[in-house]
Amino acid sequence: MLRGKRILLGVTGSIAAYKSATLVRLLIKEGARVQVVMTNDATSFITPLTLSTLSKNPVYTTYFDKETGEWNNHVDLALWADLFIVAPATANTIAKMANGICDNLLQAIYLSAKCPVVVAPAMDLDMYRHPTFIRNLGILRDMNIRIAEAESGELASGLTGQGRMAEPENLLEFISSQFPSRLNGKNVLINGGPTYEAVDPVRFIGNRSSGKMGVALANAFAEEGASVTLVLGPSNETPDEHIDVIRVESAEEMYNATVSHFKKADITVLSAAVADYRPKDISKQKIKKSGDYLQIDLVKNKDILAALGAKKTTKQVLAGFALETENEMKFAKQKLNNKNLNFIVLNSLRDEGAGFGGETNKVTILDDKGKTHKFELKDKLSVARDIVDYTIGLL
Ligand code: CTP
Repeated sequence: MLRGKRILLGVTGSIAAYKSATLVRLLIKEGARVQVVMTNDATSFITPLTLSTLSKNPVYTTYFDKETGEWNNHVDLALWADLFIVAPATANTIAKMANGICDNLLQAIYLSAKCPVVVAPAMDLDMYRHPTFIRNLGILRDMNIRIAEAESGELASGLTGQGRMAEPENLLEFISSQFPSRLNGKNVLINGGPTYEAVDPVRFIGNRSSGKMGVALANAFAEEGASVTLVLGPSNETPDEHIDVIRVESAEEMYNATVSHFKKADITVLSAAVADYRPKDISKQKIKKSGDYLQIDLVKNKDILAALGAKKTTKQVLAGFALETENEMKFAKQKLNNKNLNFIVLNSLRDEGAGFGGETNKVTILDDKGKTHKFELKDKLSVARDIVDYTIGLL
């Protein structure tokens, strides 16, 4: 299950580098996001253009671009990745990895990586069984680097034996096995985005929600193998194609769509910024400008989360969000209790980088046992993955 996973592929100077093109294609087909870094020697075997075209991303070979002076930040690339795989990995690269030698971008990325690292060795059979290589591979293994063993067969030298890089299909399987799907067979319901409450045919009352958090949540649950339904208010975000998206506009439409999918949901997380009120009457014609003041009467919308909380069974997990500007903990706790939730995700507009619109969020989870779990400021997909991990912990 590689949907949405960020795979950083390191390609080094072996004839097997031509197989990297197939590997990139297979990863993309599985829904992974791929970035490629190559050593200088690797570019003699396969062009960066081939791999950038297939990965749909620039390929990095050096610390900086000589033409523009632009710096390729190895730390950012390393931290971006959910998994770093070096395929093919030459004896030289493996020796450097084993000994912390950092004389190219790929090695600097390796030394900065916090994610799981996989190597797929490729070399001639005598090199593959040389005691020095065996020792170096052992060092990597002891450092918990996963080894996709070379396969046996005809080698580029004409000899036959172990040393061929594992076939791309087998590497794909190896990579997938590093990401067990923990929510296979579960139905997940998410809502997100703002709602628009029509005033007349051209105007509405809305809010600043972008829908990014809801989409990130849907993507993060889908990454774990869940079947995800996302009820999404007006938003420019594009959810992963495997997600069942129901587009709505008003709070009433969101209520109907969310309530009707609740019964079969094992896990429901409502992140939408639902308008609490809507205009009592929607003018059929555009309201013309007249006096200095205009009064629009508003009536209360139904609370979707509270309605689901009232229907919830003990087998279902139900969570909501609380966006606050003051007395954050107190208000979040009230919502958790009043709406009968398993947990609530609090974000405060007083925290820089949290809340609507931006790429990041900073949240605290409050649960129905009275515990709180604080998280750092992170990009919204990482926040969503924390919420998924937390939810899996409850199951
Ligand atoms: N919510 C909902 N339906 C509404 C209003 C809110 O389902 N009509 C949900 C939101 O999706 C969120 C949670 O309730 O998960 C809390 O929303 P929030 O706007 O923070 O709080 P409200 O309950 O609307 O209270 P207030 O606006 O007074 O803070």
